[in-house]
Amino acid sequence: MFKVLVTSDLPDSILGKLKAKCIVTKLKHRPTKSQLLKLIVDKDGIVCFVKIDADIMNAGKKLKVISNNAVGFDNIDVAEATKRGIAVTNTPGVLSQSVAEHTFALLAAISRRLVESDAITRSEKYNNWKYGFLFGTELKGKTLGIIGMGRIGSIVAKIATNGYGMKVVYYNPHRDANSEKHGIKYLPLAQLLKHSDFISLHVPLNEKTRHLIGEKQLSMMKPTAFLINTSRGAVIDEKALVKALQNKTIVGAALDVFEFEPKLSPGLSKLTNVILTPHAASATFEARSAMAEMAVENLLAVLEGGKPLSIVNPEVLLK
Ligand code: GLV
Repeated sequence: MFKVLVTSDLPDSILGKLKAKCIVTKLKHRPTKSQLLKLIVDKDGIVCFVKIDADIMNAGKKLKVISNNAVGFDNIDVAEATKRGIAVTNTPGVLSQSVAEHTFALLAAISRRLVESDAITRSEKYNNWKYGFLFGTELKGKTLGIIGMGRIGSIVAKIATNGYGMKVVYYNPHRDANSEKHGIKYLPLAQLLKHSDFISLHVPLNEKTRHLIGEKQLSMMKPTAFLINTSRGAVIDEKALVKALQNKTIVGAALDVFEFEPKLSPGLSKLTNVILTPHAASATFEARSAMAEMAVENLLAVLEGGKPLSIVNPEVLLK
């Protein structure tokens, strides 16, 4: 039987499927690197959402598959895995709706200052209905700039246009004919930054997108603009963002991901013009169950010599 390490929480029924076919070591807590180095030694596969670098792969001499329980795979050194013939799989698609809905929960919440409003009301500082008290911003007719028009970005665009009557523009390395057919206009990044009232990030983290939004890009945005991030923290230079929010270069931000996750950059948590959630955009029963199921199916497919539902480095299966 194959030996498998599971570092993610999985629903019992899905863990059961894995246990029927493999000897499973299931961790209750996120492992440290030194724990991982020991635990990986005799494993054929791992289901995880932790950092897997060359050291871990060197220790895991029998490792055939790293099944990431996430769509983003910047936590894995894919080049090193490919060199060693280790398959890296991920879970695209099944979490897109949840992440898009969370993006809009953040967008709506920051535009109407919901977290501030809740705190004020709870602390019984609301004592009279007053014109201008906690003024927010309407979404109808405003421009949403989507950076990264993939699976998640397209659902965000639909919610924005169909649900809120927003105008949507997008920037992507490749033009998206389908979005443009639906009236969504392509803009170069600089133009999108300049013209959007809300900007939402939906790109993977890689060397091209790291710090895609830094001091310069923030200074190009409208002083009334809001920035939403449910992709990866390091797409934004977080230090520059804190400064921009302190100086009112932009009006607000809503973030589900952080550059030094789970740590926050100094000053971020002190700001009232931000909303922060703990990398929870896919945290619905529907998305997380489907991700777990896909991660287990991907892992079993590789171990059993089949075709996984989604593989990041398909070339390893051709060898
Ligand atoms: C979560 O962040 C994911 O990439 O699935």
